[in-house]
Amino acid sequence: MNPIRYERRHYTTGPTAIERLDRLSEVLGGPTISIKRDDLLGLTAGGNKTRKLEYLAADAIKQGADTLITCGAVQSNHCRLTLSAAVREGLACQLVLTEPETGYNPQAGGNHLLFHLLGAEKIEVIASDGDMLAAMEELAQALKKEGRKPYLIPVGGSNEVGSIGYMACAEEIEQQAWETGTPFDYVVTATGSGGTQAGLIAGFMARQSNTKVIGVNVSRDRASQEAKVLELVQSTAEAVGLRGEILPAAVRCEDKNVGPGYAIPTEEMVEAVQLVARTEGILLDPVYTGKAMAGLIGMIREGQFTKEDHVLFLHTGGSPALYTAPQLFLSGEK
Ligand SMILES: Cc1ncc(COP(=O)(O)O)c(C=O)c1O
Repeated sequence: MNPIRYERRHYTTGPTAIERLDRLSEVLGGPTISIKRDDLLGLTAGGNKTRKLEYLAADAIKQGADTLITCGAVQSNHCRLTLSAAVREGLACQLVLTEPETGYNPQAGGNHLLFHLLGAEKIEVIASDGDMLAAMEELAQALKKEGRKPYLIPVGGSNEVGSIGYMACAEEIEQQAWETGTPFDYVVTATGSGGTQAGLIAGFMARQSNTKVIGVNVSRDRASQEAKVLELVQSTAEAVGLRGEILPAAVRCEDKNVGPGYAIPTEEMVEAVQLVARTEGILLDPVYTGKAMAGLIGMIREGQFTKEDHVLFLHTGGSPALYTAPQLFLSGEK
């Protein structure tokens, strides 16, 4: 037996809901759309990182760590949730943040506010093109000199340990599809550091499911994101002892909705966030799920799905960032 799949902390009670989006499906006139509410996962304000952290925190605890160190943008959902997991486990947490183009604002709200509220032990801000891994290693060296035991978590929690969280999610989706008798043809998700998509692909493969995963890129071009995700599917499959060849065709990433770059708003994102809010009363975020939904809407308008298809949109969270950009949504003005 390969124990890695079973070593897990639990931060959410039960599976997250799958809800039918009948009004949105009707307005778009395409396939049947459902949504998996991973925005309602446990830990502070939920989101996809909670699933990865169930496995990463278990690994840290197993290794005797007393401090989690991770990195991300100033509005990183991953940093917020890593800190939240540390709080839950009685561990310290240090963060490396990259300075935004507009400069670092120590008064910034959203996730940045939560870094302070949840009590990050240290926040180090480095240049936007700085080496996050090197900065984390420096923090780790300093802690080791004090006799402490740091555990480094890569950007987005996307390594083979974190990705197992999304293998578990694929199993959960399969179970829910089984119970309701409605399998999904596609799962559509935002894809950034890649662990969510890679874990889903590996998880559906493990269940021999026919469900296909479509990643909607939030930063890279198609070829580089597909290569990144494929590598992670392969290393995750190897880590858990999954047999069988993983073909590049298993990985599909769409890059039409990145816009000018990571976290830079697009008109399509604003339209998607407004449409889902006004048809279903569900809040998406401007950086990840707004662009992912814009991607899904674009694919529907291009006729890429049939009316008989059943598409599951994965809501990966990110709501704190919504409140950092009110000008995008006030009175519909951009
Ligand atoms: C809200 C949200 N959705 C999606 C993603 C992308 O997930 P992944 O980094 O696993 O590709 C992130 C990553 O930070 C996120 O915060």
